[in-house]
Amino acid sequence: MRTIVTLPGDGIGKIVLPQAIKLLDAAGFEANYINGDIGWDFWCKEGNALPQRTIDLIAEHKIALFGAITSKPNDEAKKELSPSLQDKGFVYFSPIVGLRQLFNLDICIRPCISFKGNPLNFIRKNSSGGFEEPLINTIIFRQNTEGLYAGVEWTNPPKQVRDALEKHPKMKFFKDVPSDEMAVSTRIVTKPASKRIIKAAFEYAKKFGYKNVTICEKPNVLRETSGMMLMIAKQISNEYPGISLWDTNIDAQMMWLTKNPEDYGVIVAENMFGDIISDGFAGLVGGLGFACSANIGETIAVFEPTHGSAPKYEKLNPSIVNPIAMFMSAVMMLEHIGENEIAVKIKSAISKVIEEGKVQSYDMMKIRGGADVFSKGAANTQQITDAVIEKLRCET
Ligand code: NAI
Ligand code: MG
Repeated sequence: MRTIVTLPGDGIGKIVLPQAIKLLDAAGFEANYINGDIGWDFWCKEGNALPQRTIDLIAEHKIALFGAITSKPNDEAKKELSPSLQDKGFVYFSPIVGLRQLFNLDICIRPCISFKGNPLNFIRKNSSGGFEEPLINTIIFRQNTEGLYAGVEWTNPPKQVRDALEKHPKMKFFKDVPSDEMAVSTRIVTKPASKRIIKAAFEYAKKFGYKNVTICEKPNVLRETSGMMLMIAKQISNEYPGISLWDTNIDAQMMWLTKNPEDYGVIVAENMFGDIISDGFAGLVGGLGFACSANIGETIAVFEPTHGSAPKYEKLNPSIVNPIAMFMSAVMMLEHIGENEIAVKIKSAISKVIEEGKVQSYDMMKIRGGADVFSKGAANTQQITDAVIEKLRCET
């Protein structure tokens, strides 16, 4: 039997992850679940939000389902360390970012697919003055380890860095700015990582029948990094004759997002651009309660909802949060390990619950979150899980 490492983390991660496991069980997915310690409690108690024993578990079992974590700025984090660990030089880092780096989880996939009948779906005015609701089915491939978020940056760059930069002719515009009045963030893009993400995007398009892959960059301005990604995309696209390669600029793409989002199939981009487009598209299909993701490396994969730990709702009992982002992350896990039949069953059950519209979380009702949402007709987290499980049972 397969073993899945479960990493509930903090806040609502601890609420939605167990709900996803209930659903996986009900759908007939058989697995051993091993809990991995991760998150704020372990920072406070041990000075490490990602203990080595958790890293070892993931390295051994290869597949993890992750809830969410709480991150705080370093000075705040230090204050919450247990007294015996204070002033011992512990430095907080985000355990999910740590996992991505440690296991080189360089391919981030963020599907943005509308569920029919979701009240949060994007609508636009049509030419006859009415409204239309284009259904969106876009999968964002975001390079997860390089580019502007790789962290190679300086405030007051050291002399060697300044000297190296001065070799570039465009630095003449900055020649009078002292280094201590300057900050530099680099955008490093490599061929191997670009090839991996672009290839993964085309493979996905082929497997799931998407007709186009869009490389969304800005090669007219970022001639080197975006230019290299576009060139690689053109080369790789030759291996996929049935799939068209489109290229868009990130700024224009954000505009087209609200004009013709239904035209886009798979989109691939560098780290920051992928982050931006995936949030943009997620907003068209329901936002954080629906946004799921996968972080995939050569051998290890971690599946997680895009949302964080939502601390303001963690203590509400019963919980008000929407577990669908977590459910869809579990569905991505099933697809990754080849359990397609169960994945399809779960997706179909979720779709039915949403389309029926009888059981809706507060976000789907477009009301403000809080303990009073139930009196306004919102379902709690457990009731949403139960409704999806009920639909599964109707099917079998
Ligand atoms: P958040 O995603 O936790 O919550 C923002 C707001 O979105 C919530 O207050 C709530 O109104 C809504 N929301 C989020 N998930 C929802 C769900 N499942 N159902 C219904 N509504 C939902 O982001 P925030 O408040 O900026 O960060 C809270 C903590 O989470 C911080 O410590 C942050 O560092 C961490 N974080 C962790 C992430 C991760 O684990 N991958 C990602 C983003 C933030
Ligand atoms: Mg983001």
